[in-house]
Amino acid sequence: MATAPRLAPSLLASQALAEFSSDVIVGLGQPGQKELPSKYLYDEVGSALFDVICLLPEYGLSRAGMRSLKRYAPDIISRLDGSFVVAELGSGSGQKTRFLLEALSRRQRVNYYPIDISSSALHRCQQELGEMDRVSIVGFERAYLDGLQEVAARRRDGEHLLVLFLGSTIGNFDRPAGDQFLRDVRNVLREGDALLLATDLEKPVPQLLAAYDDEAGVTAAFNKNLLARINRELDGDFDLSRIQHIVRYDEAERRVEMHLRSTTWQRVTLRKARFNFFLREGETIWTESSHKYDPQEVPRMGERTGYRCAGQWFDTEWPFAQNLFFAV
Ligand code: AVJ
Repeated sequence: MATAPRLAPSLLASQALAEFSSDVIVGLGQPGQKELPSKYLYDEVGSALFDVICLLPEYGLSRAGMRSLKRYAPDIISRLDGSFVVAELGSGSGQKTRFLLEALSRRQRVNYYPIDISSSALHRCQQELGEMDRVSIVGFERAYLDGLQEVAARRRDGEHLLVLFLGSTIGNFDRPAGDQFLRDVRNVLREGDALLLATDLEKPVPQLLAAYDDEAGVTAAFNKNLLARINRELDGDFDLSRIQHIVRYDEAERRVEMHLRSTTWQRVTLRKARFNFFLREGETIWTESSHKYDPQEVPRMGERTGYRCAGQWFDTEWPFAQNLFFAV
């Protein structure tokens, strides 16, 4: 794939490992609730497990995202005036994006810039979308906002930017941080630029709990893999046979939380990070939040962070919304 110039791979990898190590030490060394950033769930194993999650009958979220774009992409794209380049935050599998790129490429040539910290995700995206007519792809192996800044700097005068943030990834942020992220994106945009934001909506709690604690145990494996990854990359000794996958719904925050709970006291050493600590019996490490939204709160999120909402498109089978914002 044409990839934007970057640092030498080995340097990039050692920097990534140093950052992983320091984030892990901060999250596991802090007093009170231990936590780990959910972005670290997606190493090669975690990304493959996430692909399987998307096939589970209990997990309707990604199918809803797919159905809604299959159905509404032409309508969504028809709301855009002028010529657009497309940036996607998180390259995903590219399947959903295809519907949007197809609709847009019917009226213009399209430059598409997936932005992802994972080079394997960018490669898969290239595999999936590389053959599209009138679409050229340049991947950015970067953090979301860094990549977005580079894409914004590359575009020509008169070209608008359409930013895609699909899959309800915004749900990983708590509500104040989600607002801040929308503001940070807005600061890179010019008036008239667009943001397509996908949001998973509130639904009955038993349905949500099942979606994150499936019968086949795939989500449990996805969650536990984070500790297995720490064992692999930081030479750790978490005893995974004494770790349970826990899912709970916080009614006040309106979010699903995933935790990893130690069934016994255990001492853990991460040799490569020169760090050790204890887990008490029953203590949890909080690994992910997935916030759920009220359909009416999403336009308000946009309004207080520098946008106006120009439309919402819903999947009714699995309540889910595609929301089109314009920067004001
Ligand atoms: C990719 C963040 C949207 O929150 O539903 C799926 C991740 N975690 N099952 C979500 C996830 C457990 C997913 N997002």
